[in-house]
Amino acid sequence: MCGIVGYIGQQQAAPILLQGLSKLEYRGYDSAGISVRNGEEETVIVKSKGRLKVLAEKTNDGLAVKGNCGIGHTRWATHGEPSEQNAHPHASEDSSVVAVHNGIIENYQEIKEKLEKKGYVFYSETDTEVAVNLIDYYYKKHDGDPLDAIAKAMMRIRGSYALAIMFRDYPGEIFAARKDSPMIIGINNSDVFIASDVPAILKYTRNVYYIGNMEIARLTCGNVTFYNIDKEEIEKELTEIKWDEEAAEKGGFEHYMMKEIHEQPKAVRDTLNSMIKNGSISLSDAGLSDEELEKISHIYIVACGSAYHVGVTLQYVIEDMARVPVSVDLASEFRYRQPIMEKDGLVIIISQSGETADSLAALREAKEKGVKTLGIVNVVGSSIAREADRVIYTLAGPEIAVATTKAYSAQLAAGYVLAVQLAKVRGKINEEKYTEMIEELLMLPDKIAKTLEDKERIQWFASKFSNAKDVFFVGRGLDYAIGLEGSLKMKEISYIHSEAYAAGELKHGTISLIEDGILVIGILTQQELYEKMISNLVEVKSRGAYLMGLTVYGNYGIEDTVDFSVYVPKTSKYFASSVAIIPLQLMGYYLSVSKGLDVDKPRNLAKSVTVE
Ligand code: AGP
Repeated sequence: MCGIVGYIGQQQAAPILLQGLSKLEYRGYDSAGISVRNGEEETVIVKSKGRLKVLAEKTNDGLAVKGNCGIGHTRWATHGEPSEQNAHPHASEDSSVVAVHNGIIENYQEIKEKLEKKGYVFYSETDTEVAVNLIDYYYKKHDGDPLDAIAKAMMRIRGSYALAIMFRDYPGEIFAARKDSPMIIGINNSDVFIASDVPAILKYTRNVYYIGNMEIARLTCGNVTFYNIDKEEIEKELTEIKWDEEAAEKGGFEHYMMKEIHEQPKAVRDTLNSMIKNGSISLSDAGLSDEELEKISHIYIVACGSAYHVGVTLQYVIEDMARVPVSVDLASEFRYRQPIMEKDGLVIIISQSGETADSLAALREAKEKGVKTLGIVNVVGSSIAREADRVIYTLAGPEIAVATTKAYSAQLAAGYVLAVQLAKVRGKINEEKYTEMIEELLMLPDKIAKTLEDKERIQWFASKFSNAKDVFFVGRGLDYAIGLEGSLKMKEISYIHSEAYAAGELKHGTISLIEDGILVIGILTQQELYEKMISNLVEVKSRGAYLMGLTVYGNYGIEDTVDFSVYVPKTSKYFASSVAIIPLQLMGYYLSVSKGLDVDKPRNLAKSVTVE
C-alpha cells in the first residue's frame, strides 16, 4: 500500500504535494518523491529514502521546486527494497513519461522481459517502472496520444493500480488511471487534486470525483475529463466528503484495528496472488526451488506473539499435509536453549515488522549453526528480510494498530501456500488434491469477507462481557492454535485475563478454574474432533461456564450445548484458522471499545519489540 498525490492549478505544486503526502504516510513511509513541471521546462524529479521529512528537507518544504503541476508518492515497498532508486516517481529513459503508482502489477516480470527485448533498460527493481515504460512504449508506437497509450497499457497489465502520470509533451496536464487501488480526484475552482485517500486533500476541498475501475482521467487547470477504457468520455457526479480528517485516515472506521480487520480479504488475496500464478504455486520470488523443498529434513518455526501462533497453526498444517517434521519455538526461548537442528533443516522466522529483537537473534543463531533460513516478513528490506537466506513477503501493507490482524492473516496465507507446495513436491498430495487446495486457498478472501458480515452479533455479545475477569478459549488441533491467537487479541487490547487451552488438557488441572458464569469460548472447526469438543464443552458447562461456540455453518446442533453460537464459512480443515480468527479478533476489538480503551495503542505495548 502506498500513497499517491497529484496537483494542477494556480498555486505552486510542491508544497501541496508534500502536505498531501504527509497525510498519507500511514499508507507507507519507507521512501518518497515528487515530480513537478514548471510550464514547458523539463520535469524535475526529487526522491529520498526514509520518511517524508527527508524529502521535505531536501526540497526546503517544496519551496525549492517550482511549478504548478506535479505528482508525488510515499512508498510501502512491495517490489524492490526501500531506496532512492526504487522510490517513486519513476520515469522512462527520456522522461517522456513520469508516474507514481499504488498497487501491485502481477505480470510485471513478463512485461519487463518483453520491453527489455525491445531495448528498454531498467534502473529499479519496481513493478511501477515497468508500467511507466509500457505506457512509454505504446505512446511512442502509436502517434503519441497519452489517452491511447494509457488505455493500451491498462489492457495489458494484470493486477491493481492507481496511477498518476505526466507526459513531457503535455505540460499542464496530469492523467490518472485506476483499477482496484483507491483513488479520488478533488476540485476547488482552478485547483485539481489526485489522492489515494481523502485525508490528503481535505485541507483544500471536500468536493471529489470517484474514478471507477478501468477508467482514465485527464486533469488540467480547473477541469477534469473522465474516459472509459475505450477512450469514450464519461460523465461523473461530484461528491461532498462529510468525514473529518481523523475519520478519513481510518477510512471511516473508528480505529485502525477495525480498518485493518476489514483489509484482511485484500491482504490475503494479494499475498496469495504473489505466490500463485495461473493456478499453480511459484516460490521463485522467494528463491525457494522444488529441489530445496524436497530435501528439507525438519522445519523449525521461530517467532513471537501472534507470529508464533501462526507457527503453531502451520505445524499442524505442514505435518498433516506434507509429512515434514515441524518444531515451533518462541524466539525468546529458542535463542537461549541451545537448540539442536538438523543440517538439512529449514528455520522459518515469521515476523510482521522484520525487526523483532528475539526473532532476529534466533535467525542469527540459526545462521551461525549453518541451517538455511527463510523469513516470512511484511516489511520489505527489514533486518530479518535482509539477513534471512530466503524471504517470502506478505503483502498486507503497513499495519498501524499494535494488535496485528491483517499481517497475521497474510502470514497464515503464505504458510499455507508453502505447505501445499511442500506436500506436492514431496509426493504427499496428487495433482487433483493440489488443484483442490489451490482453489480452496483462492476462495479464502471471500470467506473472510463473509465472516465480517456477522460483526454486529459479535458486538452485541461482547458488550455482555466487558466486566469479565477471566475468559477461556478451548479447542483441539488447529482450533487450539486459533484459541491462542484469540486469547492474545483479547488480552492485549481489552486487558481481560484469558487463557487458551487444548480442550483435552482441561481435566489435567485447568477445569478447577471454571466457576459460575465464566465465559468459555469453544472453537470447533475441525470436524473429526467435533464430538470430543462437544463433550469438553458439556464438562465445563456442568461446572457453570457460559459457553460461546465457534464452528462452521451446518453444525447447528451446537445450539443444544452452547449459550451463543457463531458460524463461519466452511473451508479446508487446514485453512480454518483464517476464517475462525475473524470473530475472535472482533470479540477483542469490541470488548476494548466497550471498556473505552485505546484500541490501536494498548498500554505497555509497542508495534515492534526491537529490544529484548
Ligand atoms: C500481536 O497482536 C502483537 N502485536 C505481538 O504479539 C506481535 O505479534 C509480536 O510482537 C511479533 O511481532 P512481529 O510479527 O513484528 O515480529
